[in-house]
Amino acid sequence: MTFLSELIEEYGDIVSVDLVGMPFVLINHPDDVDHILKRHQRNYDRGGPTYTMARAMFGNGLFMAARPGWLRQRRLLQPAFHRSRIATFGELMSDTIDSTMDSWQQVSARGANLDVRSEMSRLTLRVVVRALFAMDPADAMTRRFTEAVATATRELSAYLRFPLVPLAVPTPGHRRFHGALQVLDEVTYEIIRQHRDDGADRGSLLAMMMHARDADTGEGMTDAELRDEVFAMLFAGHETTASTLTWVWYLIGRHPAVEQRLRAEIDQVLGGRRPTMDVLPQLVYTRRVIDETMRLYPPAWQIFRKAAEDDEIGGYSIPAGTNVLWCSYHMHRHRKYWNDPERFDPDRFDEREGGSDNPPGYYPFGAGPRLCIGNTFAMAEMQLAIAMILQRHRLVPISDKTIEPSPLLTLGAARPLVVRLQPPAGS
Ligand code: HEM
Repeated sequence: MTFLSELIEEYGDIVSVDLVGMPFVLINHPDDVDHILKRHQRNYDRGGPTYTMARAMFGNGLFMAARPGWLRQRRLLQPAFHRSRIATFGELMSDTIDSTMDSWQQVSARGANLDVRSEMSRLTLRVVVRALFAMDPADAMTRRFTEAVATATRELSAYLRFPLVPLAVPTPGHRRFHGALQVLDEVTYEIIRQHRDDGADRGSLLAMMMHARDADTGEGMTDAELRDEVFAMLFAGHETTASTLTWVWYLIGRHPAVEQRLRAEIDQVLGGRRPTMDVLPQLVYTRRVIDETMRLYPPAWQIFRKAAEDDEIGGYSIPAGTNVLWCSYHMHRHRKYWNDPERFDPDRFDEREGGSDNPPGYYPFGAGPRLCIGNTFAMAEMQLAIAMILQRHRLVPISDKTIEPSPLLTLGAARPLVVRLQPPAGS
């Protein structure tokens, strides 16, 4: 990360760079980002070593897929992520947040501290698994599945931190990783079989994907395709949300005035009631806090593309086959486009103060046809989690030391964020 920011500092908004022996062109100008994500997106497909590795591990689901197959997949999956369908997941999200907080009661009764990062990870994983399968979280198969995702994520992060020994070499950690993938495979196929056998529309994402039909051919997805999509949703939709929520709690802990305004908004809009999906548009400041958190700590902090044909970006020639890298972490802190970019200030996103919905190069969910399909899902989940947690708790950090970001699969925190739980003032 420091290496990339030094390069940008020294050479400007477009620079060639060698990363792990591979040449990349790093872009850091909003126009160039629009070029690859929107205007010339057809020329910039998924490609490069990251996606090759991801496909080998997780299959060819929507996140990993390249054209032309990607377009069919996107069309099949899009309806399942329509705003109206996502609204049906509100109860499930709130129930999961509630039960996570119930488990915190015991922690706080023991006077113990809470590791925010792992709690947010546990919470978002349970939400996405329940949404995917509509199964009871206490069910043995769901528990086995959830534990396997947690193990695979942990071991993959450990590998990415020190990628010295290839994953194919059977070290104990690599064995745990491959073992977890095998469990995920088995359980996913078993759940697909159960869904197919009973034929009922369980309202799960899996059922929606299963019933989707190609508009041209009338064909649905095979079991292997469904399995890949389940893996893609887990891969793309769990750690990203957990990482954003962790940074939200970190930033709130360091900015008491922001916390006060959040609480005032939540009290005023909800008056102590449990939030529902229809009130989320009224939680305007909560949304701004999330937007500003994703500006400073965008979970999908880097996006790779590969040029299909010769092109030109910012006056430089881009031969076919060039790997292009865009790093939203740096773009979102560009001094030219953000006033005092290192400062946490949710009011930047206040339209009344002259901001806009989409400042130049601000794309935490990506842009163009490959815009995150789960963005509405993620935003609802995060607003609900922040509102419900603040209604019941204060998360008081036990240390005021700065936490640096750790750029792995997502932009995590380099060390745990540990808090003490306290009741909110006045309760
Ligand atoms: C804060 C949470 C999230 C962030 C910041 C985020 C960010 C992103 C970004 C930046 C992309 C575009 C990548 C690119 O252009 O190469 C993307 C794609 C994607 N996201 Fe998300 N995501 C989040 C949550 C979710 C959730 C909850 C799901 C699913 C339940 C999800 C599923 C996907 C999928 C399947 C894609 C691939 C879309 C395609 O290529 O057509 N994401 N996400």
